Amino acid sequence: MTITSTMTASTSNIPRGPVEVELNFFEPPTDGGQPIQYAEEPPAGEPAANYHRPVIQVTLTDIRGQESQYNLDDHAFQCLPGALSGIPDEIFLSDDQIKATFYPKVEQLLLDHVEGAHRVVIFHHAVRMDRHNSPTHCKPLLAVHADQTAQASAAYVRSHIPDPTDAAALLGGRYRIINVWKPLNGPVESSPLAFASGNSVDASDCFPIELRLASYTSETVGVRYNPGQKWMYWSGMENEDSLLLKCSDSKHDVPFQVPHSAFADPRSPPGAKPRESIEVRALVFG
Ligand code: OGA
Ligand code: FE
Repeated sequence: MTITSTMTASTSNIPRGPVEVELNFFEPPTDGGQPIQYAEEPPAGEPAANYHRPVIQVTLTDIRGQESQYNLDDHAFQCLPGALSGIPDEIFLSDDQIKATFYPKVEQLLLDHVEGAHRVVIFHHAVRMDRHNSPTHCKPLLAVHADQTAQASAAYVRSHIPDPTDAAALLGGRYRIINVWKPLNGPVESSPLAFASGNSVDASDCFPIELRLASYTSETVGVRYNPGQKWMYWSGMENEDSLLLKCSDSKHDVPFQVPHSAFADPRSPPGAKPRESIEVRALVFG
């Protein structure tokens, strides 16, 4: 009796169920030019981005309770409830400890749960947390996107597999980029992550954006709204839960990427915890 009421009290701040929210989509530049975005400060006189971000209302389904219905090949995402347990919270305050302690867990998670995977190379992580020690931390991203184009994915393989013969062999097989996303102060009460099931996304709504960083240029993907897209979220994710987001797949007869965006949840109570999370980006071969 006491336990039940305690649990109810501690979980009452968590928004659950279907919800109508606003997402910032992508529209290509009206002059027909190549979409461009500066990751840092743009050159004087240039905008940070030359394309539009129309705000569109979408209804999100809550997939809680139906996690096992979704998989990487059919939907381009997968839920792994409770799969990342026993990791001390403090390690996420340091990039070095994330690399030393969390990367090996993510590598094993991907080898265990991604069908066919025989090699994993982690190439990036981002911590979305204001209190993080490193200057690279960031905030939830309120823009509908997919992380990389097919061309950018192949470039990541070339730059992270030093031996050209090895890289060429791996590029000849199946390779995917998969993000492992998890909260750091779950259960999530604000700014959850929305995603559109990969099988509901028309490739013609996905546009390459030239992403200009300080030392190199890459390509990210802007996603135009289409009423056929099925948007969803996974309510109240806990620190032990992880979401696999497939950002690219060299196998082209399956949905190859899952558009995603953080959203302001109109149901978040006053004083809700600002969401903190980590995403680890991995090349997954096989
Ligand atoms: C990602 C991503 C946004 C967010 O994991 O690739 O875009 O707000 N995350 O967590
Ligand atoms: Fe992303």
